[in-house]
Amino acid sequence: MLRRLHLEQPDSFAFTPENQAWAEKQLTKYPEGREASAIIPLLWRAQEQEGWLTRPAIETVASMLNLAYMRALEVASFYFMFQLQPVGSVAHIQVCGTTSCMICGAEDLVAVCQEKIAQNPHELSSDGKFSWEEVECLGSCANAPMAQIGKDYYEDLTAVRMGEIIDELAAGQVPTPGPQNGRYASEPLKGLTTLTEFDAGKHQYNASVQLASDIGDTVKRIDGTEVPLLAPWGQAAPTTNAPVQVTGAPANQQKPVAKRPAVKKAVGDKTPGATPSKNKPASKDGITKQEANADSAAKPRGKSNPPASASASAEKKPRTLSAPRKAGADDLKRISGVGPKLEGVLNELGFWHFDQIAKWTDAEVAWVDSRLKFKGRIERDNWIDQAAKLAAEG
Ligand code: FES
Repeated sequence: MLRRLHLEQPDSFAFTPENQAWAEKQLTKYPEGREASAIIPLLWRAQEQEGWLTRPAIETVASMLNLAYMRALEVASFYFMFQLQPVGSVAHIQVCGTTSCMICGAEDLVAVCQEKIAQNPHELSSDGKFSWEEVECLGSCANAPMAQIGKDYYEDLTAVRMGEIIDELAAGQVPTPGPQNGRYASEPLKGLTTLTEFDAGKHQYNASVQLASDIGDTVKRIDGTEVPLLAPWGQAAPTTNAPVQVTGAPANQQKPVAKRPAVKKAVGDKTPGATPSKNKPASKDGITKQEANADSAAKPRGKSNPPASASASAEKKPRTLSAPRKAGADDLKRISGVGPKLEGVLNELGFWHFDQIAKWTDAEVAWVDSRLKFKGRIERDNWIDQAAKLAAEG
């Protein structure tokens, strides 16, 4: 099947403020310079917000990650979970058509979709509320036949129940996901026949259905307000006093976790700002004072990472060049965190060489930072120290 961008595209895309904050937090999950690894979660969140993945959305995500648009399009067009054309405003139904489901009646489910929604997969229903497609195994074979609607699995389906679910969704209801024949998870319909000592303490539904029901995260567009923004991999969660452990429990029952210890540097690491002035560790375990300070501030200390008061200083335009020097421009992409797009922006601003960047003062950093789409990048990625090293290497 050809997967191409839809012919009709909206003019623009923007994450909601909550989804934008969520997306920016995702970037901090990955090592410096490897933020592009966040592409799948960011594309997925864009799709959850809009229903499908538009070209402006793909471009927005690519820009956030400093990726060429083509790279982001390659990912979006490779994975079938990304919908490259408009889907039903209420639900897009993905019917599993692989062996177990096919044997157990998937073709009947497809027939219901054809009758109630549209004859062809990816075709919108006449009221625009629904669309459907047949997909490969979704890993719920023990509960065949099944379909995914939104993020949820509707299992142990019959043609009659499939029709009812579509009718309920059309009427604005959200049918409870999970097995539709009354059984619990993938246990026998009449209950456990072995290991019955584990039959106590169950929730009403299986874990994923229970969580989806508790947080109301079922068939709907996701605008980012559904659950608090959590960042358990960082030093502090922005909306709580302490980091929170993400578990299968509802968000409001998740537990604070201990602060992450300072990272011990590799022997011989001469990263500026990570080694004490007298070159001695501050503690037996080798964690330097600087590292401890850097850890508590959740970012490296260096010339390019001034205290808050300094970073608020007035902007001053650095000296710029109208073109690279005779020997040619430096490859600014060697600075971790600078991709092809950012390099282009820097060139446009008049920066072609490592030594130019290495000389920026706090006020000049503020000037450049205010002209970048993704603020704080210079300090976070320690551009000045990196540029100084690269300039020294010649
Ligand atoms: S065959 Fe349908 S979920 Fe695996």
